[in-house]
Amino acid sequence: MPPRKFTTKRTKMTDLERTPVLRVIPGPTDINANGHIFGGWVLSQMDIAAGIVASRRARGPVATVAIEAMKFIEPIHLRDLISVYAHVERVGRTSMGVRIEVVAERDLGATEVKVTEGLFTFVALDQNNRPRPVDTLA
Ligand SMILES: CC(C)(COP(=O)(O)OP(=O)(O)OC[C@H]1O[C@@H](n2cnc3c(N)ncnc32)[C@H](O)[C@@H]1OP(=O)(O)O)[C@@H](O)C(=O)NCCC(=O)NCCS
Repeated sequence: MPPRKFTTKRTKMTDLERTPVLRVIPGPTDINANGHIFGGWVLSQMDIAAGIVASRRARGPVATVAIEAMKFIEPIHLRDLISVYAHVERVGRTSMGVRIEVVAERDLGATEVKVTEGLFTFVALDQNNRPRPVDTLA
C-alpha cells in the first residue's frame, strides 16, 4: 500500500487528542451544487464533537455561545470518511474554548486531507440554562 500523505499541515496534538471524537460519512443529501459537501453539514459535525468534549470537561450540559474561528480549507467529497478531532484549549470561568480539526480520508484511506478547522466557545449551564462555573457540578 502506498504511504499515507497529508495535503495540509496538521496541528500538533497529544495522543489522546489524536483519537477522533466522531467518525462519519456524509450522505447524498449533504451535497451542494458543486458536488461537494455543504459547509453547514461539516459545521454541525464540529458542533456535535466539540459539545461532547466540552460537556465532558464541564461534567454537565453546555451550549455553544460563539464560533470564534472557522476555516474551510479543502472541499469534502462524497464517500470521504470524516474524522472530527476536538479538545478543550481554554477554560474560563463559565466558558471553554474548543479547538476542532476535521480530516477527510479518501482513496480507501491512502489520502488524508485536513478539510476544516475551528475554535468554538461553549458555556457550562446550570439547571436553569444559565452560565455555571465550569468546575462546579450541574
Ligand atoms: C449561553 C448563554 C446561557 C450565555 O448567557 P450570557 O448571559 O450570554 O452569559 P455571560 O454573558 O455571563 O457569559 C458567559 C460566558 O460566555 C462568554 N461569552 C459570552 N458571549 C460570548 C461570545 N459572543 N464570544 C465568546 N465568549 C462569550 C463570556 O465571556 C463568559 O465567559 P467566562 O465566564 O468564562 O468569563 C446564552 O447566551 C444562551 O442561552 N445562548 C444560546 C445558546 C444556544 O442556544 N446555543 C446553540 C445555538 S446553535
